[in-house]
Amino acid sequence: MKKENILYQIPGAFEEHRFEKLHNVTFDSSFSGSVAVADEIAALIKEKQASKLPCVLGLATGSSPLSVYKQLIKLHQEDGLSFKNVITFNLDEYYGLESNDVNSYHLFMHENLFDHLDIPKENINIPSGTLQNEKVRTYCKAYEKKIADFGGLDFQLLGIGRTGHIGFNEPGSNINSQTRLVTLDHLTRYDAAGAFYGIDNVPSKAVTMGIKTILAAKRIVLIAWGINKSEIIQKAVEGALTPKIPTTYLQDHDNTTVVLDTEAASGLTRIKTPWITGNCDWSDLSNQCKAVYWLCEKTNKSILKLTEEDYNQNGMSELLILHGNYYDLNIKMFNRLQNTITGWPGGKPNADDSKRPERAMPEKKKCIIFSPHPDDDVISMGGTFDRLVAQGHEVHIAYQTSGNIAVSNDEALKYIEVISDISKDASVYADIKQELLRKEKNTVDYLALRKLKGTIRKRESLAATRYIGIPDNQVHFLNLPFYESGKVQKNLPSQSDIDITNELISSVKPHQIYAAGDLADPHGTHRICLNILLDSIYQLKTKPYMKDCWVWLYRGAWQEFEVHEIEMAVPMSPDQVLRKRKAIFYHQSQKDSVMFQGSDDREFWVRAEDRNRNSAKRYRDLGLSDYQAMELFQRYYF
Ligand code: F6R
Repeated sequence: MKKENILYQIPGAFEEHRFEKLHNVTFDSSFSGSVAVADEIAALIKEKQASKLPCVLGLATGSSPLSVYKQLIKLHQEDGLSFKNVITFNLDEYYGLESNDVNSYHLFMHENLFDHLDIPKENINIPSGTLQNEKVRTYCKAYEKKIADFGGLDFQLLGIGRTGHIGFNEPGSNINSQTRLVTLDHLTRYDAAGAFYGIDNVPSKAVTMGIKTILAAKRIVLIAWGINKSEIIQKAVEGALTPKIPTTYLQDHDNTTVVLDTEAASGLTRIKTPWITGNCDWSDLSNQCKAVYWLCEKTNKSILKLTEEDYNQNGMSELLILHGNYYDLNIKMFNRLQNTITGWPGGKPNADDSKRPERAMPEKKKCIIFSPHPDDDVISMGGTFDRLVAQGHEVHIAYQTSGNIAVSNDEALKYIEVISDISKDASVYADIKQELLRKEKNTVDYLALRKLKGTIRKRESLAATRYIGIPDNQVHFLNLPFYESGKVQKNLPSQSDIDITNELISSVKPHQIYAAGDLADPHGTHRICLNILLDSIYQLKTKPYMKDCWVWLYRGAWQEFEVHEIEMAVPMSPDQVLRKRKAIFYHQSQKDSVMFQGSDDREFWVRAEDRNRNSAKRYRDLGLSDYQAMELFQRYYF
């Protein structure tokens, strides 16, 4: 290991872990991880400058390196880091995209990095995606030669795809592969579908550096953020070297570091099931809960049926010693889970609340449900929303973004045509229609069209909230400015997003805040909305009313809490499931095939019902009551 590299200096970075075959470091956020990576790159650039040498960087695109690039720009703008001696080679480019296409990696690199630096234009190299087929081979050879002529890559930054690809070297890529034209894996195209407004528009081929090209770099840093990457990271770091997961080729490179945030690292054995590695901190109650619920799943038993032998055979004998005997431990874990169940999410009036998830007082609470898009409220916690209203609490809904980009042009056209059919003076809509019909694929919507799409979502939301039974003046459309880029890639969040949030919280003075605590995509809208809300809570923290405010996190359509994370479970009867389904149906523009479907083909209401049914089943399998469905929450302490 090259101890001089910054990332090797991080405490714990040299620990050898029984299952791990790649050096890796975990940070508490993608931001702090990115700062460390940018610092290592900056140190390398300066070292080369001091020796009057060029610094040859291999660069990646995608969501992962964005925060590293932001940090490099900051180092340039605020600390005077110069990029004049930097030569860059990008990993890849979609084949068939012009360099000015909104989805081209050329445009991405210029917008997110190069345009903000003093790097000479001639030092930038990005594979061309527009060559005729017969010219590609010669071009790729020249790309390789150019890298070699500069003395090879000093540093290669990598992301990782869910197929385990590095660059666009998909499963099956050869260890000797060099820069070439490749066919993209279906999953890779699926993951890119959002940015392209549908999988059909995602190119099927790309030009990518090869595995050999990457492995020839003197230093490699692979970054991965968010829970979505945890599964593939576990395979890449702990699995055997195989062409089926090209990232495992990095195990053969002697100077690679994998940089993770806690979520991306969460699938590693020492973190997911630390008792298996024989290194578990049992003083942490969440490890105890995690282990017991895991043991139930492994042995296919409910909590109260676990035996001493089950514990001993699965690396948990120390836990038994801590508790005296297995039965006391079983009872403790059973009761803990039992106490999370409540039909009174706003607290049960006149009841002993010492073991309940929520306080009994005040009897009638003021609640704000923050919903990143106009529909997450009903999709993720429609049953709880309904109960809160039925139990007499003052429920406010805050739709954080307009959700306008998720309305298809066909849907917008339908509304325009209805209006122009019935209105004498529909000239304004006639203009929008003209523009809409002229609009090319993959271009940004102009303002009037975005406004129309936002209004469609607003009206659908009001239909749903009226159905559940709250007055319109308790429905707040925040239209946070960070979202209004008209593109999949959003603007940077700023204090004005926080100010809008502060204003609502300080005017309602809520006893409960519900928020989407989604970790699935670290750069996605849900995460940005959560960060804005948490920033707002921290800014308001000292206000007297915030002392009475409890924050509950729910998960969005893609993910669910682990059992040990759950602090409140709200059961739903079959009738309540149907009411929730109806509330989701009001969001008609998001029904059938939606624009940002992701890798799950199910409609939102089906996903929600499957998820809530599974949550109830998990409780039943652990030996608790058998409910039709359940919505789950975790408390956020501030
Ligand atoms: C990008 C590239 C890809 C990405 C990978 C992860 O130049 O070569 O390998 O690094 O697909 O993409 P994100 O970071 O968007 O998850």
